[in-house]
Amino acid sequence: MLDFNVRLIAWQRAQGRHDLPWQVTDPYRVWLSEIMLQQTQVDTVIPYYQRFLARFPDIASLAEATQDEVMALWSGLGYYARGRNLHAAARQIIDRHGGVFPREIEAIIALPGIGRSTASAIAVFAFGQRYAILDGNVKRVLCRCFGIDGWPGEAAVEQRLWSQAEALLPVDDVVAYTQGLMDLGATLCRRSRPDCPACPFAGDCLAQRQGRQAELPAARARKALPEKTTRMLILLHAGAVLLEKRPASGIWGGLWSLPEGDPADDVLALARRLGVTAGSGTDLAMLTHAFSHYRLRIFPSVLPVEKLGPRAEAPGRVWLSLADALGAALPTPVRKILLGLPEPGTPAES
Ligand code: ADE
Repeated sequence: MLDFNVRLIAWQRAQGRHDLPWQVTDPYRVWLSEIMLQQTQVDTVIPYYQRFLARFPDIASLAEATQDEVMALWSGLGYYARGRNLHAAARQIIDRHGGVFPREIEAIIALPGIGRSTASAIAVFAFGQRYAILDGNVKRVLCRCFGIDGWPGEAAVEQRLWSQAEALLPVDDVVAYTQGLMDLGATLCRRSRPDCPACPFAGDCLAQRQGRQAELPAARARKALPEKTTRMLILLHAGAVLLEKRPASGIWGGLWSLPEGDPADDVLALARRLGVTAGSGTDLAMLTHAFSHYRLRIFPSVLPVEKLGPRAEAPGRVWLSLADALGAALPTPVRKILLGLPEPGTPAES
């Protein structure tokens, strides 16, 4: 898209936000607003910004305050490291820059709490300099507009986004352009339900053309789940299978399930612990079941029961025909295991 910046500037002038309280060129006000806006939306920030400025009208008054006084005015905004860094930076500006907010981007970035994108925003809004910004909203706009795949938190994707952000930067009107990127990301190119028909890039935005607005920017790859293993015993006696009721809380709470044990233990010993004497059995194919926080690998073993001891009939245990068992409230993998069993009396395939 050759005229991205021209279209964005025209849109910002016609549709963007022009009456935000920090749309001034006082570096202190610009800096304070950019820090407050790092993780907080405009509507929430405005009253905090105004109270803060009323109490600390300039860098010197902020630097002279105690940390408690500063944090009292930050209270409720969240991400409190922002307030502590702001206070420390004000003291640095007094000590190292004679109380004057620095103009050079390297000096701005060197202040506590200011990263590359925030430094660029301050350099643009306070000093009219030409630097690219790349905050979360801008990443979303660029990923969608230019169809950039991959999670933006990944270094290679972020590098690509910075290159794109720099390549798009206009020679003039950087203030309107930068404000336009922020306004577009906050008002139209929202994370969910973006207002594509109102967008200046409608028809050219790759995400919109391909219907991929919900997929871009890509989410972080899901971490591999930790794995647990279990043995499930299918104890068969006179056409019935033993089910146990799970404790009310926890995984599969209150469902009827198969007795379990450590897969490393001998299956006949596991059966004996249940009060059952079993003959040698058959291992079935392993199944995997994914919970939200771990993956369970299930090793099922079918065992013919030779003798029931008294403990085999404890409360919370039932012997059910396969048909009745399948009618009970079973966890999904248990249902799969029971459905995969050969019908009683069916001769094994040869
Ligand atoms: N988000 C971050 N900086 C902003 C600004 N200057 N105006 C509006 N939203 C913003």
